[in-house]
Amino acid sequence: MKKELEKLKNEFEGVIKKVSDKDSLEKLKNEFLGRKGKVKSLMKNVASLADEERKVIGKIANEIKDAIEVSYGLKEKELEVQEYATIVDREWMDVTQPGTFAEQGHLHPVTKTIYEIEDIFSKIGFTRIPVPEVDWDHYAFETLNMPKDHPARDDWETFFIDAPEGKKGKLVVIPHVSNVQVRAMEDYELPFRALYIGRSYRRQSDTSHSPMFHQFEILMIDEGVNFTHLRGVIEHFVHSYFGPDRSIRLRPHHFRFTEPSFEVDISCGLCSGTGELDNIQCKMCKEGWLELAGAGMTHPNVLKAGGVDTKKYTALAFAFGIERTMMMRAGMNVDDIRTLYKNDLRFVRQF
Ligand code: DAH
Repeated sequence: MKKELEKLKNEFEGVIKKVSDKDSLEKLKNEFLGRKGKVKSLMKNVASLADEERKVIGKIANEIKDAIEVSYGLKEKELEVQEYATIVDREWMDVTQPGTFAEQGHLHPVTKTIYEIEDIFSKIGFTRIPVPEVDWDHYAFETLNMPKDHPARDDWETFFIDAPEGKKGKLVVIPHVSNVQVRAMEDYELPFRALYIGRSYRRQSDTSHSPMFHQFEILMIDEGVNFTHLRGVIEHFVHSYFGPDRSIRLRPHHFRFTEPSFEVDISCGLCSGTGELDNIQCKMCKEGWLELAGAGMTHPNVLKAGGVDTKKYTALAFAFGIERTMMMRAGMNVDDIRTLYKNDLRFVRQF
């Protein structure tokens, strides 16, 4: 019996040495120490021995059982340590290495400019209102004092939408944001100061024209609004956006929806309005001034079309092209304006 016990212990010690994973260790445990295991069945035999023998053998049996349990415990620890070491090996990382960052996008330069413009005008009481991008020609032309057969309408080179005419004429993709003028007069209580910013579409595509571009326009209607206000609001924008040392110049012009009408020039930032740099003609402006906007005092016919009492109210309006304005300030050297909308990240990431 004693021998059998010793044999069992040696057998266990022999196999456990070769065990190298938890599963086999578990199997071995069941085989020897489990309820139907080899140790249990030997212990059963011990119970059937005569008293004297049982005492001696029982003690030995218990010692062997303990020894088996101890080497099982040791093996279990050893495997655990081993497993931990492999995990550490596999998952080791150098925390001092620079990480990989998720790419973060940023707003398109034109969008940033739009937010900036909104901010500049909100400081002097202008509220941004929405621009319908598709509109009736009633708002895009007709009510702006441009009747159907008026040649000025050709200038806008409009995209007409292939849809049935409605009471307010044909549908167009707006060629300028001035369609909002009469809409605003219809929708808002007077007096008001409105800013509207939107996409405009014209049949033109070359290095300095994109078929889709942005405009912002100002419309201020109140009692006693006059030319000095017009100049003042334009100056507020130019000084806020380009800097206080830039001058503006209003040149008489003709628009159907304003009277008087002007084109707005700002002094060139490159040559400080002199037209030359080191005795060479300035490449940016050629003559000291850059043309940036159309402006004027709203024509009474337009006010009337919007139901405004022209005896009581007068109005001013002006519009800037956003891409051109932005490029002028940034000194952005873009040889093709359409690059702004090509979605080429190499370009957009620079701003
Ligand atoms: N709507 C004109 C255009 O797109 C620009 C313009 C000129 C707007 C004079 C105005 C203005 O508000 O007063 O060319």
